[in-house]
Amino acid sequence: MKGIVLAGGRGTRLLPVTLAVSKQLLPVNDKPLVYFPLSVLMLAGVRDILIITTPADMPQLERLLGDGSHLGLSITYAGQPEPNGIAEALIIGAEHIGGGPVALVLGDNVFHGHNFQELLRRECSRVDGCVLFGHPVRDPHRYGIAEAGHDGRLLSIEEKPARPRSNQAVVGLYLYDGDAVDIAKNLTPSARGELEITDVNRAYLERGKAKLVNLGRGFAWLDAGTPESLLQASQYVQLLEQRQGVRIACLEEIALRMGYIGADDCRRLGVALGASAYGQYVITVAEQFGNTQQEERS
Ligand code: TTP
Repeated sequence: MKGIVLAGGRGTRLLPVTLAVSKQLLPVNDKPLVYFPLSVLMLAGVRDILIITTPADMPQLERLLGDGSHLGLSITYAGQPEPNGIAEALIIGAEHIGGGPVALVLGDNVFHGHNFQELLRRECSRVDGCVLFGHPVRDPHRYGIAEAGHDGRLLSIEEKPARPRSNQAVVGLYLYDGDAVDIAKNLTPSARGELEITDVNRAYLERGKAKLVNLGRGFAWLDAGTPESLLQASQYVQLLEQRQGVRIACLEEIALRMGYIGADDCRRLGVALGASAYGQYVITVAEQFGNTQQEERS
C-alpha cells in the first residue's frame, strides 16, 4: 500500500506564523506536527510515502525528512500550488499511487490510542472500497459526520451538518482501494471551489463499498489547526510523555521497532540529535533495543 501525507493548505487560522512557516512544521511539544501523520503511515506498515505540500514549504519539509532512507522509508514530494481540496491529493498523487490501494493522511492530524498499530495493519490489509475512521466529538456540526450500521457499513456522510445524524466525526485518515484516483478525477468542485474528500467517500458509499471504523472514546484524535488546538495537542503529548516516559510519534523509534532500521542506525540518528531530550530518548531506545537483541541471541 502506498501512503500520502497531505501537508499543504494555507493555515489561515494560525496566521501570522503561517506567513513564514508551514503549519505542519510547527512543534507539538517536542517534535514537528508532521511527525504524527507520518508515524501513522509507518505504524500501518506503509513505507513508500508521498508528501504533498505547497511549493514554498517543500524545501523545509525536505530538509527535515529528506528521502526517508534514514528511517527505512522512501519519501518523495509533490507540490499543490493552491489548496484546491483534500481530494486533489489523489490526483496529484496518481502516479505515486499507481492504481493500487492508498492511505491518505492529513498533515495536521494527531492520533494516539491503544492498539492503533494492530487496527491499522488489519484495516490496511483488507481495503475493499474505502475505510474511514470515526471519532466521537462534542460539536458534530463542525465536522464531516458519518453514520454507520452495526456491521460498520457506512450509511451516510455529511459535511458540517446542521442536524447531525451521529456524533462520529470522520478523522483525517482515509484508506482507499485502486478506484480512488478515478473517482477524484471525476469530481465536480464544491461551492467553495474545492475537490471535497467527502464527495470521494460518498461515491464509495453509493457503491455500497464504504466502511466506518469507530476509534472509540478511549482514543485521542486532535487536529492542530488553531492556536488553541495546537497548544492542547502539545499539552496532551507532553503530559503523556512525561508521565509514561515514552514518546509518541518518535519516528526513529517506530522505524526501529518496525524493523525498518537497526539499533546501530537508530543510535546514530539519536546522536545527531543528542543535544535535545528527544535525541537522548532515541539513543536510550536504541541501546535498550540493542541490548535486548543481544540477550536474546546469547
Ligand atoms: P484545513 O485545516 O482544512 O486547511 P488549512 O490547513 O489550509 O488551514 P486553515 O483552515 O486554517 O486555512 O486542512 C486540513 C489539512 O489538509 C492540513 O494539513 C492542510 C491540508 N490541506 C492541503 O494540503 N490542501 C488542501 O487543499 C486542503 C483543503 C487541506
